[in-house]
Amino acid sequence: MHSSFLLLPFLPAALAARPFLNEPTTGIDEALANTPAGTLPDLQGIVGLPDFDWAARRYMNVSDYTYYRNGAAGEWSYRNNLEAYNRFRLRPRMMVDVTNIESTLPTTILGHNFSAPFFISPCSRGGLAHPDAEKNFVRAAGAENILYIPAFFATLSMEEIAAEKPSNDSQTLFQQVYLSSNDTETQQLFDRIEGLGTKAIVFTVDSAADGNRHRAARYGVGSADSSYTYITWDYYNKLQNMTSLPVIPKGIQSVEDVKLAIEHGAPAVFLSNHGGRQLDGSPSALEVALEIYEEDPQLFRQIEIYADGGVRYGADVLKLLALGVRAVGLGRPFMYANTYGVEGVQRAIQLLKREIAIDAGNLGVPDLKAIDASYVKWVNNGWYS
Ligand SMILES: Cc1cc2nc3c(=O)[nH]c(=O)nc-3n(C[C@H](O)[C@H](O)[C@H](O)COP(=O)(O)O)c2cc1C
Ligand SMILES: *[C@@H]1O[C@H](CO)[C@@H](O)[C@H](O)[C@H]1NC(C)=O
Ligand SMILES: *[C@@H]1O[C@H](CO)[C@@H](O)[C@H](O)[C@H]1NC(C)=O
Ligand SMILES: *[C@@H]1O[C@H](CO)[C@@H](O)[C@H](O)[C@H]1NC(C)=O
Ligand SMILES: *[C@@H]1O[C@H](CO)[C@@H](O)[C@H](O)[C@H]1NC(C)=O
Ligand SMILES: *[C@@H]1O[C@H](CO)[C@@H](O)[C@H](O)[C@H]1NC(C)=O
Repeated sequence: MHSSFLLLPFLPAALAARPFLNEPTTGIDEALANTPAGTLPDLQGIVGLPDFDWAARRYMNVSDYTYYRNGAAGEWSYRNNLEAYNRFRLRPRMMVDVTNIESTLPTTILGHNFSAPFFISPCSRGGLAHPDAEKNFVRAAGAENILYIPAFFATLSMEEIAAEKPSNDSQTLFQQVYLSSNDTETQQLFDRIEGLGTKAIVFTVDSAADGNRHRAARYGVGSADSSYTYITWDYYNKLQNMTSLPVIPKGIQSVEDVKLAIEHGAPAVFLSNHGGRQLDGSPSALEVALEIYEEDPQLFRQIEIYADGGVRYGADVLKLLALGVRAVGLGRPFMYANTYGVEGVQRAIQLLKREIAIDAGNLGVPDLKAIDASYVKWVNNGWYS
């Protein structure tokens, strides 16, 4: 008899033993149990990015929190985004001099210098967490010298957000857009973006139809863009003619579309399934990055490839970088951190910088630029499969 038949009777028990945890249990419930609803624990009690979710869930009211937290339909892609990283085990190397690892975090994104290979992904409605809304992301990203990409449906206007940059224009922002079918309006929007000194346009292409959002529907806080939208590569080329800025497609989810992006002159692509908010069953960026790597690792050198979704730990960042991803985005952790205002967002950035450095050190990576696919065993290890 095949051995898997012998295991079958135990399967339900095995599944029951692994409930989905929105955040792994690391003792926060016990340590911060006396935090009253509607208040925030002391920021020094926040030790990792998942803690900001815990804090925001108690602090924000249920409809506002649900707007940030929700995923599409049964949220299988939302959960898969979080779990995918732990399907692949690291391959740490010993006896390597890692004492300079911190100095190797800085990188460039489309030629712009930043202190670390991660950025704040575009998320709508920053004002639900804090009255200063997106201003806190500009200030914290500026202070820590990382990239921030404001969302088209931000609480504040593009002009209000740009006004928070230092007056010497030393801070680089990209701008995310959704577009209407009215090219006159699109041209006006692009001109406004250029006029604000923004360095690139991030065009979200994964939302041609409305997101199917059950959790959000219970509170009437579904997606902001509910129409069917005309988005094709021909249209993309037309957009490139309407601006001197690079236009980066966000929401690419297959190697075929990466190749088409290259054919159509894209300077970069952004792998994302919108935080699992659009199409349930869509792959995590890690799975797409692996698909690209297995097809042709050189694709990561032909254009810059960014990725987001479910990144919560330094080691998650390392797994994406190992495949050739240039920079990694985070959405919800920064939105939740914004309940604390600029100090919270800055602490989130500092915590992740430190985790990237110490995890790379323990992985035996002497220089973050030298990380490659050999640092990860790219075989599904059975966790979360
Ligand atoms: C509350 C919220 C609002 C979002 N709004 C947008 C948006 O307006 N445009 C967009 O391209 N992506 C949007 N996203 C997706 C993010 O840019 C990003 O892809 C996603 O949050 C990454 O997953 P993570 O939250 O697990 O880090 C949003 C995500 C969240 C959580
Ligand atoms: C970016 O960093 C490089 C290398 O450190 C430096 O030569 C260059 O002047 C920097 N560019 C800007 C715009 O600061
Ligand atoms: C939640 O708070 C927002 C303000 O951010 C308010 O507009 C909304 O009515 C509140 N919802 C509930 C259910 O209390
Ligand atoms: C620009 O201004 C900011 C904030 O005042 C300062 O930290 C930064 O060093 C300045 N940068 C340059 C290139 O002058
Ligand atoms: C497109 O937008 C422009 C500028 O807002 C407006 O004047 C024009 O009427 C719009 N065209 C259509 C077909 O709606
Ligand atoms: C873009 O502009 C070039 C040069 O004017 C033109 O040849 C090309 O057809 C345009 N492409 C699109 C898609 O409009």
